[in-house]
Amino acid sequence: MDTAEKDKPQNEIHHMAFIMDGNGRWAKKRHLPREYGHSAGAKKFREIIRHCANRGIGCVTVYAFSTENWKRPKKEVNTIMKLFRDYIKEAERDFEKNDVRVIFIGNRKVFDEKLRREMETVERLTASRSKILCVAINYGGRGEIVDAVNSLIAKGAASVTEEDITNAIYSGVVPPPDLIVRTGGEMRLSNFMLWQSAYSELFFTDTLWPDFTTDEVDSIIEQFCQRNRRYGGI
Ligand code: FPP
Repeated sequence: MDTAEKDKPQNEIHHMAFIMDGNGRWAKKRHLPREYGHSAGAKKFREIIRHCANRGIGCVTVYAFSTENWKRPKKEVNTIMKLFRDYIKEAERDFEKNDVRVIFIGNRKVFDEKLRREMETVERLTASRSKILCVAINYGGRGEIVDAVNSLIAKGAASVTEEDITNAIYSGVVPPPDLIVRTGGEMRLSNFMLWQSAYSELFFTDTLWPDFTTDEVDSIIEQFCQRNRRYGGI
């Protein structure tokens, strides 16, 4: 890298998001039921968010369960929900050890009252922390925009601006993602952060989520720093 290149302002990362894809295929490759892939994925989630926090990234979002994922077999849905509940219990128990504010985005109405209360407790206990972990659960980007518009209509809006929608979506305190990483080889957003991703840099890797490594995170961050973000300018 020459001096001019080194002096070029590097892209800052305020928010890094992950679409954690490939758990099922990871298990299939090992002749294991898909549920094993999700357990391995939940372990990997802990490792990757710790690494991002250690790298000083202010906000990390993970796509844990989409509004479309209910179409999966009941056994698989139950496993993912159990892993989610386990994480919430852990986040509540260890909240003093972790330096991260946990927030959940998605439609909570489908969850039972106990789970909703636990989610609120974790959000409340960690609310004063500056770093954010945002877990998208029963989340859909289109639904989020529709909910935002309906909430504005309910407050009496006859028309809405971009700013109104930005302020009304679930992820109110979360900045738009600077980069979105999808593991597992598919090249699409699958209804993830449709409003917020307008200028996100996208990264796709064939690595299945449970095989994803902190070295690969570092390499993606390096590539991100070299990208020329123009936001429609020149
Ligand atoms: C996509 O892989 C993954 C999911 C739908 C679930 C992700 C859930 C976890 C990583 C664990 C629970 C989360 C937390 C926050 C504790 P896939 O099943 O679609 O994989 P495939 O494309 O190989 O079938």
